[in-house]
Amino acid sequence: MEKILEVKNIEKYYGNKSNLTKAIDNISFDVNSGEFVGIMGASGSGKTTLLNCIATIDKVTSGHIFVGNKDITKLRGNSLNKFRREELRIYFSRF
Ligand SMILES: Nc1ncnc2c1ncn2[C@@H]1O[C@H](COP(=O)(O)OP(=O)(O)OP(=O)(O)O)[C@@H](O)[C@H]1O
Ligand SMILES: [Mg+2]
Repeated sequence: MEKILEVKNIEKYYGNKSNLTKAIDNISFDVNSGEFVGIMGASGSGKTTLLNCIATIDKVTSGHIFVGNKDITKLRGNSLNKFRREELRIYFSRF
């Protein structure tokens, strides 16, 4: 099956040394074409932060997020705009 998303060892920290929040502390997973993935966790466990990093709304502190072969954590400027415009889609739904 084709791997369409690879989240690799990402960390996202907010704040500074004296007041550090480890919102994401080293997570990795793959999503294959055709899969539906749900994210579950307690309030404050980092679900929204993870999605913000995948959606390029927020920047990871370290690690990599591959969409196909492209490491989207490295995109800046025009290439980031192009990715957002042509490849990234966010669908809002209600169950
Ligand atoms: N912009 C921010 N600045 C500082 N800390 C933040 C920021 N966004 C999130 N956090 C902190 O990061 C941690 C993860 O928050 P996040 O909102 O990702 O959790 P969540 O799993 O989506 O929670 P909920 O289920 O309540 O929506 C929390 O400790 C939160 O306070
Ligand atoms: Mg949330």
